[in-house]
Amino acid sequence: MQTAGIYIHIPFCITKCIYCDFYSVAEQDDRIDNFVNALIAEIKNSDTDVSKWKFDTVFIGGGTPSILSQTQLEKIISALDKSFDLSNNIEFTLEANPGEAPLDKLQDFRTLGINRLSIGIQSFNPELLKFLSRIHTSDDAVNTFNSARKAGFDNINCDLIYNITDQSANDWKNDLNELVELDPEHISAYSLTVENGTVLNDLVNKKTIQIPDDEMQIDLYNTATEILSKNKYRQYEISNFSKAGKECLHNLHYWNHDKYIGFGASAHSFDGLKRWNNYSNLEQYILMIENDKSPIESYDYISENDRINEIVGFGLRMIDGVALNKIPDNRIIELKDSVQKIRNKYPDMIIIDNSNLRLNQRGLQFADAIAVELML
Ligand SMILES: C[S@@+](CC[C@H](N)C(=O)[O-])C[C@H]1O[C@@H](n2cnc3c(N)ncnc32)[C@H](O)[C@@H]1O
Ligand code: SF4
Repeated sequence: MQTAGIYIHIPFCITKCIYCDFYSVAEQDDRIDNFVNALIAEIKNSDTDVSKWKFDTVFIGGGTPSILSQTQLEKIISALDKSFDLSNNIEFTLEANPGEAPLDKLQDFRTLGINRLSIGIQSFNPELLKFLSRIHTSDDAVNTFNSARKAGFDNINCDLIYNITDQSANDWKNDLNELVELDPEHISAYSLTVENGTVLNDLVNKKTIQIPDDEMQIDLYNTATEILSKNKYRQYEISNFSKAGKECLHNLHYWNHDKYIGFGASAHSFDGLKRWNNYSNLEQYILMIENDKSPIESYDYISENDRINEIVGFGLRMIDGVALNKIPDNRIIELKDSVQKIRNKYPDMIIIDNSNLRLNQRGLQFADAIAVELML
C-alpha cells in the first residue's frame, strides 16, 4: 500500500500579509462556523477511492488554522476519523502564527492528537517583521515556541523568510542564529517570492521597493546552508532542514509525487492520475456544499510526460534527488540524453548514479531551471 497524506486548508487570517498569495480572507471570523460545517460535509461526502491509500500524515494548513477553537478543530478531526483510516497516521501537523496560540490552546491541540506544530516566525528583526506586515513581535515568536514545548510538542517547525528588501547578510545570520538557539526539530527557510496579485508585487512594480538581486539571494541561501549544517540540521530539500529523522513527512509526499487528498477552500488533491482543486473563494466553496454540489473547480489529467516531468521537477528539489526507479524503464534513456544535452551549461551540477538523479549544492540553486530544461 502506498503512503499518502491528508491536507486541510483553513482560509482565515487575522490580517493579510503583503507577500502572501495562499488563499485566505481576513476579518471574517463570523464565517468560520459556516466554513467548518461545509468542510465537514465535504469530508463526509468525499467519494475518492482511497481504499489502497495508507494515510500516514495529516496537515492542517492555511491561512491560519490556529485561529480555530478547540470545538471547531475537534469536529473537523472527528469527521476525518470517521471517513478515513487514520490508524497509520504518524505525523499530524498544524500551522500556528506567533502570538495567536496561547499555552491553553496549544495544550488543546496536543489533546486532539496534533503532534507537530509549524510556527511562522519569518524573522526576529522588528524592522523586517514590519516590512512583511506581520502583526507579531519576535518576543511573541519566542513565547509561542516556548509554550509549544511546555504543551509537549517535541516536533516543531519554524519558518523563516530571507531575501527581504533592506535585509543585510548580518540580519539574516542573526535570524538563523536566534532560531538555532530555540532548537526546533525542523526549519524551513524560504526566499521571499514576489507573487502576482499581492501588495508586495504592486510595490515592486511601482518601484517603491526593490527585492535583493540574485547574487545576494545566493549569498543568503549559502549562509543558511552553512549555519544550519554546522548546527546539525540536515538539508533535505532546497528550503527545508531538519534534525535526523524529523523531515516533514507530509511535504515529502508532495516532493515524492505521492497521493494526497485535500479539503477546504482552494485545497488541492492528487490521486496519481489527476489533480483537482477546490474553489479559491470562501463564499462559493460554502455555497456549493450547502447546495449539495461539489466544491471542486477543475480537474487536470496528467499525461505520462507530465508525470515524468513532475517527478523530475519535484525530485530535483530534494538533496537525494529523483529515484530513477520512478521513471518508466523505456523513458530512462531519453531522460539521460536530456541530461547530457545540458551538462555543459550546468558543469558538474547534475549527478546520475545507478539509482538517483540529483543536483549538487550549486545545482540546487538552478533546480527549477534545470527541471524545465529536462522536460520530456
Ligand atoms: C501560507 S503560510 C501559513 C502559515 C501561517 N499563516 C503564517 O503566516 O505563518 C506558510 C508559510 O509560507 C511562507 N510564505 C508565504 N508566502 C511566501 C512568499 N511570498 N515568499 C516566501 N515564503 C512565503 C511563510 O514562511 C509562511 O510561514
Ligand atoms: S502568511 Fe500566513 S498569516 Fe499571512 S496572510 Fe499568509 S497565511 Fe495569513
